[in-house]
Amino acid sequence: MMDALVSLCKRRGFIFQSSEIYGGLNSCWDYGPLGVELKNNIKRFWWRTMTQLRDDVVGIDAAILMHPAVWVASGHVAQFTDPLVDCKSCKQRFRGDEIAGGTCPRCGSREITAPRQFNLMFKTYMGPVEEESAIVYLRPETAQGIYVNFLNVLTPARQKIPFGIAQIGKAFRNEISPGNFIFRTREFEQMEMQFFVKPGTDMEWLEKWKAERLGWYGELGLDKEKLRLHQHPNKELAHYAKDAYDIEYQFPFGWKELEGIHNRTDYDLSRHQSHSGKDLSYFDDATNERYIPYIIETSAGVDRTLLTCLVDAYREEEVRGEKRVVLKLHPRIAPMKAGIFPLVKRDGMPEIARRVEHELRTHLPVFYDETGSIGRRYRRQDEAGTPFGITVDSQTLKDETVTVRDRDTMLQERVRIADLPQMLQKRLYA
Ligand code: GAP
Repeated sequence: MMDALVSLCKRRGFIFQSSEIYGGLNSCWDYGPLGVELKNNIKRFWWRTMTQLRDDVVGIDAAILMHPAVWVASGHVAQFTDPLVDCKSCKQRFRGDEIAGGTCPRCGSREITAPRQFNLMFKTYMGPVEEESAIVYLRPETAQGIYVNFLNVLTPARQKIPFGIAQIGKAFRNEISPGNFIFRTREFEQMEMQFFVKPGTDMEWLEKWKAERLGWYGELGLDKEKLRLHQHPNKELAHYAKDAYDIEYQFPFGWKELEGIHNRTDYDLSRHQSHSGKDLSYFDDATNERYIPYIIETSAGVDRTLLTCLVDAYREEEVRGEKRVVLKLHPRIAPMKAGIFPLVKRDGMPEIARRVEHELRTHLPVFYDETGSIGRRYRRQDEAGTPFGITVDSQTLKDETVTVRDRDTMLQERVRIADLPQMLQKRLYA
């Protein structure tokens, strides 16, 4: 199924391999016309839910490059490592946890090197001179841009604890084993929210955010049966976490993490306070107490969410003896909301269809198509995940009505052209 999905993504313009004409760049992917719409819709929906519909979370957009001391304070320079092992026989490299029972998963050899720790941060140099003091890192998570801006945001945003700061942006990790299409890549985007709370209320907020975030994936249209929360056992907790959960989805390649929800305690602000020498404590005027806030983090991957939406929506159905491939994406995130088709390229139908397109375009992303049989045009939009197909036919010439075909049921109804914007808005965003 993953092969069929990757091929659909290329065919319909969702996702292409990066630098493909040069043979591609391993684990780097480009989003095409439909892919970028889908990605933007997911990010917009996250941003709206996490910031605009709440009065206790505000947003920022921090730089990717940060002072290198940030990554010393955060613990990434010392601890953001994976064990790297080599198979002496086939020369393939693996993460330590991929070697089950000391056997190479590729060639079966038992000649494996001892693990050595490999730091996942990408390094580069700031300025023209490539020397130790000019090293900067491409951020491996967006979270640190939020912690170092805690005080900058607090006062202008007129927030009091508990409150959160949200951010969407690129992150980079030099993963040893990227793979499964866009599931694990070296350049990806995160949607992170850090919620600052009074110590002692942290476990209560962790529970609230677990429920909120799990619910969000349901609203995104994902099959709830394929979603679950998984608690990290103590021995697997990241260096900053007191308690941690993953929201997992049942992919064709197993249950895998979609989002991490972490109780990071006062680790981050305490570390930045001691490394920067700046007081990052908070004075709580409700209780007359000064403390370093605890942080509950929700950390989701944009690309991973997008992959999950595609996997969840992908169907192969049998229709009148023929295979129909359809992406049953939630209308809220579908890249195009309606396809507009003249039944035939004559009798004034293309002109009316173009008028309908221009009228709808100011309300919704729509796609005009007059090439090929109407059946083929419906199929192309099914593969693109477009929820509605609007067809101008001979009846339209008489009464200004069109047929509206539902992608999922394939049922058609007649609607007045004048009623289309309202009807579609209602059905798309209900
Ligand atoms: N700030 C905490 C943090 O970054 P994480 O569990 O390492 O936590 C959070 O990452 C999310 O970022 C993951 O659940 C996943 O969705 C996404 N992510 C992490 N590494 C990724 C990678 N190599 N490729 C794609 N997405 C990734």
